[in-house]
Amino acid sequence: MTVTIVGSQLGDEGKGALVDLWGGDADIVVRYQGGDNAGHTVVEDGEEYKLSLVPSGAVRDKVGVLGNGCVINPRTLFSEIDDLRERGLDPDVRLAKRAHVIMPYHRRLDNIEEEAKADSDLTVGTTGRGIGPTYEDKAGRRGIRVGDLLDPDVLRQRLEYVVPQKKALIEDVYGLEAGEECDVEALVEEFTEIGRRLREDDMAVNCGDFLAERREAGDNVMFEGAQGTLIDIDHGSYPYVTSSNPTAGGAATGTGVGPTVVGQGEVVGIVKAYLSRVGEGPMPTELKDDDREEELADFIREKGGEFGTVTGRPRRIGWLDMPMLRHAARVSGFTGIAVNHLDVLAGLDEVKVGHAYELEGDERLTMPATTERWGECEPVLKGFDTWPEVDWAAVTEEGYEAIPDAAQDYLEYLSDEIDVPIYAVGVGPGREQTVHIENPFDD
Ligand code: GDP
Ligand code: IMO
Ligand code: MG
Repeated sequence: MTVTIVGSQLGDEGKGALVDLWGGDADIVVRYQGGDNAGHTVVEDGEEYKLSLVPSGAVRDKVGVLGNGCVINPRTLFSEIDDLRERGLDPDVRLAKRAHVIMPYHRRLDNIEEEAKADSDLTVGTTGRGIGPTYEDKAGRRGIRVGDLLDPDVLRQRLEYVVPQKKALIEDVYGLEAGEECDVEALVEEFTEIGRRLREDDMAVNCGDFLAERREAGDNVMFEGAQGTLIDIDHGSYPYVTSSNPTAGGAATGTGVGPTVVGQGEVVGIVKAYLSRVGEGPMPTELKDDDREEELADFIREKGGEFGTVTGRPRRIGWLDMPMLRHAARVSGFTGIAVNHLDVLAGLDEVKVGHAYELEGDERLTMPATTERWGECEPVLKGFDTWPEVDWAAVTEEGYEAIPDAAQDYLEYLSDEIDVPIYAVGVGPGREQTVHIENPFDD
């Protein structure tokens, strides 16, 4: 049995919380794309864990795998593992030998390129973690893979080829000075040592084979998506995207199981009851048009704690966007959704969703394929009755029927519009602050 968790919107929908909740029934939790640009929050008994690379299942002592579709910064990985150990956990993390490694020059180039775009509308507002440049090298067949770290001769050969290119880029194209990040000897030394630790701790695996063996032995696997559909490199708001495929197809290509394995399991979209976005790009339902909207956005931002987990940036806020959600449900083929942050909308004077877009006088229910056209879309808003603050702890105990009627109407509208059932409703950050409807691991 597999369950794939996918961000339906712009990232930070609360994926970590649901991976943690349902991960209790998984044996293995596998990240299939992205790297330490992710920030997944798990709150267990009031204790908060913010994970950027170690799969969220680590908090529950599950085997965590970073699939071949991931880009891995070993410095982040080991510092995160060490931090978790200090907090009394013993994470068992395996790395796909086919996964690519984020090298120090990737991070430098990520920041240099963002700086170069700073005064134009091409700025993406990346997390600065070197994600884009690492995927570029993967596609350009000049990347360094986890498997290469295990063989110092191969590592040296690859670095001797690629580093002079990076140095020339930094110095001749950008007119800056290359530093330690382009010192081949220092890189060989540091990354050979990392390879030694991976070997010593038996962490590098053939991901596809490893998962096949574990599945044959009867293990349940959870695929943990990072980021979200609208920042998917193919299906998102290009170029304001990350460089990988957070959508469900990525779970197959990013781990080495067949698409049929993913498709025979459940694919659960994680939905935030409103929208948040860190970084640039259009957002038709953004709350920013006048003082009143800005005040509302500030209120939601504070109440929902909408500040980037990785970079601390304040997140942009908007109403839930249905054309976006219809697009996400189709691209990933959701079999269920979880709707988080229902509590954050409680007690507001108004609750709206963008039901459709208006573009050149036409009303449309789906998103245009180009970001420029998307940016021209005006939302057609639909108002809902508001719901009050209630005792959410009591609601989670009593179940779905205890959710205020107006909030139930809101949830049922979402579910009906995309024709996908709701499996859970988040009413707070903690593991126990979830209204359970269906566990996707149950038959
Ligand atoms: P992820 O990247 O999708 O895992 O989400 P993040 O962890 O970056 O951001 C979600 C934030 O919302 C975290 O601080 C969570 O603890 C919190 N959170 C998750 N679900 C809920 C919910 O239902 N209600 C509230 N108020 N907070 C939630
Ligand atoms: P989780 O997994 C929200 C955004 C960045 C930027 C764009 C590209 O926590 O949901 P990158 O560093 O990936 O090249 O940046 O993508 N971004 C995220 N936004 N949540 C994330 O991850 C994100 N990871 C990247 O802000 O706009
Ligand atoms: Mg996040």
